[in-house]
Amino acid sequence: MELQDTTVLLTGATGGIGVALVATLVARGAHVLAVARDAARLSALARAHPAGAVTPFAADLTEAVDRAALLARVRTLVPSPSVLLLAHARPAFGLFPTQDDAELAALVETNLIAPMQLIRGLLPVLQSHPQAAVVAIGSTFGSLAFPGFSAYSACKFGLRGLIEGLGREYADTPVRFQYLAPRATNTAFNSPAVNALNHALGTRVDAPAAVAETLVRAIEHGTRRRQLGWPEALFARLNGVMPALVDRSLARQLPLIRHHAGGFASAAFQEHRHDPLAL
Ligand SMILES: NC(=O)c1ccc[n+]([C@@H]2O[C@H](COP(=O)([O-])OP(=O)(O)OC[C@H]3O[C@@H](n4cnc5c(N)ncnc54)[C@H](OP(=O)(O)O)[C@@H]3O)[C@@H](O)[C@H]2O)c1
Repeated sequence: MELQDTTVLLTGATGGIGVALVATLVARGAHVLAVARDAARLSALARAHPAGAVTPFAADLTEAVDRAALLARVRTLVPSPSVLLLAHARPAFGLFPTQDDAELAALVETNLIAPMQLIRGLLPVLQSHPQAAVVAIGSTFGSLAFPGFSAYSACKFGLRGLIEGLGREYADTPVRFQYLAPRATNTAFNSPAVNALNHALGTRVDAPAAVAETLVRAIEHGTRRRQLGWPEALFARLNGVMPALVDRSLARQLPLIRHHAGGFASAAFQEHRHDPLAL
C-alpha cells in the first residue's frame, strides 16, 4: 500500500512506539489522525511536525462517548482514514493473584474490547476506499504466553485471533487485516521491574524508531502476520507446534520471573493459598 497522501488513524500516538510511528508515517507523506488520552502531549506531538501533517484527537478509547466523537471527527476528514493502526495498550506485569477485578477489566477493555469496537465502527469508512488496512500492534506474548504477563498475554492472543478471523471474514473485500508483533521495545510501557527482568533474562530490547520503520514497511508490503526479532520469531512458532518445550524452558526461568514480578509473598497470594475455595 502506498502511504503518500493517505490518512492513518493511529491510536497510542503519544507512546514510545506511537511517536516513532508518527514520524515514520509523516516522512512517507501520510496524514496522521493521532489519538491518545493526554491532550497536551498530543498537541506537542502535532507541533513537532509540519503544519497539517498530524491532527491530534484526545480520546479515552474505553469510553463510548469518546469513541463516538472520534468516529464523528473521522467523517469530517478528507481523505478519510484508509488505515486504522492500533498501537495503544495498557501494560500489566505482575503475578496473577495480585491483579484485582478493576485492573483485569481495564486491561481487557483497553487492549481487546476497544480495538474490536473501533474496528467495527471504522469498517464502513475503510470499505469506501479501494485499498484499506486494519493493523493491530501485537506482542511476542500474543503467540507465547509468558509468566507474570498472563492476563496481558490473554489480551494479545485475543487480538491476534480477532485480526486473523476478520482477515478471513473480509478476504474478498479491499480491507486487509494485519497483526504485527514487536518484541521488547525501549519505551515507558515497560516498568523498571520489566526492564530489570529483561536485563536478567538477557532479552534483547529494540529501539522504537527501528521498530516503527519495520512496522511501516510491513504495512506498505501488506504483510498479514509478522513477529519482529530473532529468536522471538522462532520461539513464537515453536510455542505453536511444541508448547511443552516452551513450558519446560520457562519453568527454569520461573524463580527469576517471580522475583521480578513481586514474588509469592503478597498478602493476596497467601490468602488464596490457604483457602482452596477462594476465587
Ligand atoms: N514497549 C514494548 O516493549 C512492547 C513490546 C511488544 C508490544 N508492544 C505493544 O506496542 C504498542 C505500543 O506500545 P508502547 O511501548 O508505545 O506503549 P506506551 O509508550 O506505554 O504508549 C501507550 C499509548 O497508548 C495510549 N493509551 C493507553 N491507554 C489508552 C486509552 N484508554 N485510550 C486511548 N489511548 C490510550 C497512551 O496515551 P495516553 O496515556 O495519553 O492515553 C500512549 O499513547 C502496544 O500495543 C504494546 O502492547 C510494546
